[in-house]
Amino acid sequence: MRDVFGKVAVVTGGGQGIGRALTERFCAEGMKVVVADIVPHLVESTTGEMSDKGFDVTGVVTDVTSLESVEALRDAALERYGAVHLICNNAGIGSGSEGQIWEHHVNDWRWSLDVNVMGVVNGINAFVPTMLAQDEEGHVVNTTSSNGGFTPLINSAVYATTKAAVTTITECLWGQLREVGAKVSASLLYPSTTSPGMLNTGIWRPGANRPDRYARPGAPPKEGRDALGVYLKRMEKAGMEVQFAPLSEVADICFQGIVNDTFWITAPNAQQQQKIRDRSTSQIDMSPPAYLLQANMMTSRPTEMNK
Ligand SMILES: NC(=O)c1ccc[n+]([C@@H]2O[C@H](COP(=O)([O-])OP(=O)(O)OC[C@H]3O[C@@H](n4cnc5c(N)ncnc54)[C@H](O)[C@@H]3O)[C@@H](O)[C@H]2O)c1
Repeated sequence: MRDVFGKVAVVTGGGQGIGRALTERFCAEGMKVVVADIVPHLVESTTGEMSDKGFDVTGVVTDVTSLESVEALRDAALERYGAVHLICNNAGIGSGSEGQIWEHHVNDWRWSLDVNVMGVVNGINAFVPTMLAQDEEGHVVNTTSSNGGFTPLINSAVYATTKAAVTTITECLWGQLREVGAKVSASLLYPSTTSPGMLNTGIWRPGANRPDRYARPGAPPKEGRDALGVYLKRMEKAGMEVQFAPLSEVADICFQGIVNDTFWITAPNAQQQQKIRDRSTSQIDMSPPAYLLQANMMTSRPTEMNK
């Protein structure tokens, strides 16, 4: 999709964080943007602020775990703008389960798989047939993570598993779109930046807005667990400085990836590249996955979980 001006983008999880940054970038490129999020006030604030700046945006409260809801999102986008050229399946959650995989509650698995995996599947099922039928250039961007999408952090098994699935789903989608000679392509977004730093988004409040049907004993409160605070303390204790990078940089690499039709949209990262090499070597040599045991500061150990 080289020419995006006047085209229509749909962004799930567009109410805050990376989805909001994508929305802002697509608007700045002259696109019409449909902002979809499960939290109504986030849909309102994002669309309100973008409209006030003169951009053409529409908000649709959407639950990506429900195919019906995502189909209603597609129908609302078609009714408002007549076509959809770009779908960013970006909505994602962290359930708050870190630590021992054998202790994770099945509802953490269900919620995470429903949002992070079925949300992407629902986005593909609802939008791709329409985009193919339009017979115009189009693009699907699925948001994965280096955690699972490249190599897993072992203390966040649930999240990493969902992102590994997103990577495989998107590889298959890309291949099938190429096989049928579609004008629609697909990419994987690994949220990352060229400047060093973490991304300060709602994902650092795992467990936030957990629907009642995924309730479990000891779940984080409705506003989520303060994982960022725990991480900052851990880093301070280790004498390590924490920097944050602007979310607009994630949107920059994503936008460049769309117009250049880059499949693996990620900022270069030597440490990550080494882990990918170590993993491939382990698979080819059939040696144990020792690269998994490298220390990481990102995820909590079981002893820190309730702090
Ligand atoms: N922030 C990071 O460092 C990072 C790193 C790698 C990957 N990611 C991924 O980036 C994506 C965006 O996350 P973020 O970091 O901006 O977090 P975020 O919490 O700020 O944004 C996620 C958005 O998704 C929405 N959402 C949650 N469940 C939904 C549902 N069922 N239906 C519709 N919307 C729903 C939330 O309300 C929220 O607005 C996620 O897929 C996340 O896994 C983030």
